[in-house]
Amino acid sequence: MKSSTSQYPVNSVSKLFNAQLHFVRFLTYILILGFGVTIGVIFSFYLKDCTFSLQFTQLSVSALPRKASMQPPPPPPPITETQTSNHSHVGLKEFLKPPPIMHDMDDKELMWRASMSAKIPEYPFDRVPKVAFMFLTRGPLFFAPLWEQFFKGHEGYYSIYVHSNPSFNASQPEKNSVFHGRRIPGKEVQWGNVNMVEAERRLLANALLDVSNQRFVLLSESCIPIFNFTTVYSYLMNSTQNYVMAYDENSPVGRGRYSIRMLPDVSLRQWRKGSQWFEMDRELALEVVSDRKYFPIFQQYCRGSCYADEHYLPTYVSINFWEGNSNRSLTFVDWSRGGPHPATFMRSEVTVEFLEKLRSKRCQYNGNSTNVCFLFARKFLPNTLSRLLNLAPEVMHF
Ligand SMILES: *[C@@H]1O[C@H](CO)[C@@H](O)[C@H](O)[C@H]1NC(C)=O
Ligand SMILES: *[C@@H]1O[C@H](CO)[C@@H](O)[C@H](O)[C@H]1NC(C)=O
Ligand SMILES: *[C@@H]1O[C@H](CO)[C@@H](O)[C@H](O)[C@H]1NC(C)=O
Ligand SMILES: *[C@@H]1O[C@H](CO)[C@@H](O)[C@H](O)[C@H]1NC(C)=O
Ligand SMILES: *[C@@H]1O[C@H](CO)[C@@H](O)[C@H](O)[C@H]1NC(C)=O
Ligand SMILES: *[C@@H]1O[C@H](CO)[C@@H](O)[C@H](O)[C@H]1NC(C)=O
Repeated sequence: MKSSTSQYPVNSVSKLFNAQLHFVRFLTYILILGFGVTIGVIFSFYLKDCTFSLQFTQLSVSALPRKASMQPPPPPPPITETQTSNHSHVGLKEFLKPPPIMHDMDDKELMWRASMSAKIPEYPFDRVPKVAFMFLTRGPLFFAPLWEQFFKGHEGYYSIYVHSNPSFNASQPEKNSVFHGRRIPGKEVQWGNVNMVEAERRLLANALLDVSNQRFVLLSESCIPIFNFTTVYSYLMNSTQNYVMAYDENSPVGRGRYSIRMLPDVSLRQWRKGSQWFEMDRELALEVVSDRKYFPIFQQYCRGSCYADEHYLPTYVSINFWEGNSNRSLTFVDWSRGGPHPATFMRSEVTVEFLEKLRSKRCQYNGNSTNVCFLFARKFLPNTLSRLLNLAPEVMHF
C-alpha cells in the first residue's frame, strides 16, 4: 500500500515522458514505413513483374527444403530467367521435348521409354515430320562434308543420330556441323555379331524419343546419298511402305543359318535374309523396339556365323508386318563380285556415268514403277570424297 501513495507523482512525470516516447516511436515507425515502401517500390520496379514472380519465388523456396531435407539449408534457389518469366507457359511443347542426346538410360530403360506411343493418333499441333538419319559407325564419318552439303538448308526436316564404338574418342565435330552433339551413348559392336542389331535398336529407340521423327534410315560411314534432300524427303514421306529387304535364300548362307532351336516361334519357312540397311516408318520402329518375343530368340540362337544383322529384321518383319513391307532396300550395295563383303568403290570408279547409273534403276514404289529406286549407296572408300563433292551439284543436284 505504501508504494501506491508514492506512485502518484511519479506517474504524472512518466506520463509526460511516455508521451514524448510515443512521439519518437511514432516518428521512427513513419521513417521505417517510408523506407520500406521506398525499397519495395524500387525492388518491384527492378523486378518488373512484381507480385506474380515474388509469389513464385516464395513457392519455390518453400518447396525446395522438402526435396533436400537431408542436406544443410540450400543456397538461395537458382531461379533462372525461364522459370520466373515463362513459368505460366508450360505447354505441350515442353512435355514433348526429347531428352539430351547423351543420357544415362540403360538399354532396358531406353527401350521402355521409346516404346511409348500416343493412343490418340491425331496430333493436336502442327507436326512437321522429320527423317531420322541414323549412322551406325565404327570410327570417323569420312563423308561428313558430303552429308553437310546434302542437309544444307533443310533444317527442321531431319534429325541425326550417330552410334560409334565407345573406344572411338575423337573430338566433337565443330559447333556449326550438323553432327555436333549428335552422338548417342553407344556400346561395343562387332561385325556379324548380334550386338550389331542391339546397336540398330538403340539408334531406333533414341530417334523415337523425338516425336517429330516419322521415317528412320540406317546408314554407315561408307554410305552416301545419291539424290538431293527434297527428293529423299518426299520419297520417304509419301511412301506407303517400309524398306526392309527380305528374301528366302535356299543356300548355306541363307536357310543354312537357321537353327531348329528357334521353333516354334520361328520356322525355316519363315526364315528370311536381307541387307541390314533399312528404312522404316514410326509405327514399325515402335514395333521393333518393343519386340520382346523374337529378338531374345535371335540373341540366344543366332550367334557366330548366323549373322543376326542379316536375318533378324527380315524375318521379324516378314512374319508380322509383311503387308507394309516392300521387301527391298533403299541403299544400293553391289554384291556382284562375290565374297562375304560387298564391293567397295574406289576413287577411279566414281564418275558421272557411274552415279547416273545408280540413280536410274527401276523399282516398284507405292505399287507403281518408278526410276528412283535407291536413295543411298555403299560402300565408298574415304578417298572418293573430293570427287563426290565435286560431282554432287551437277549429278545429284545438291
Ligand atoms: C519466354 O517464352 C517466349 C515465348 O515462348 C520466348 O520467346 C522467350 O524467349 C522466353 N523467355 C525466356 C527468358 O526464356
Ligand atoms: C583416346 O584413346 C586413346 C587410347 O585408346 C588414348 O591414348 C587417348 O589419350 C584418348 N584421347 C582422348 C582425347 O581421350
Ligand atoms: C507427296 O506427293 C504429292 C503429289 O505427288 C506432292 O504434291 C507432295 O508434295 C508430296 N509430299 C511430300 C512430303 O513431298
Ligand atoms: C514381301 O514378302 C512377303 C513374304 O515374306 C510377301 O508376302 C509379300 O507379298 C512381299 N511384298 C512385296 C511387296 O513383294
Ligand atoms: C500409278 O500411276 C498411275 C499413272 O501414272 C496412276 O493413275 C495410279 O494412281 C498410280 N497408282 C498408284 C497405286 O499410285
Ligand atoms: C533435286 O533433285 C531433283 C532431281 O533428282 C531435281 O529435279 C530438283 O530440282 C532438285 N532440287 C533442288 C532443290 O535442287
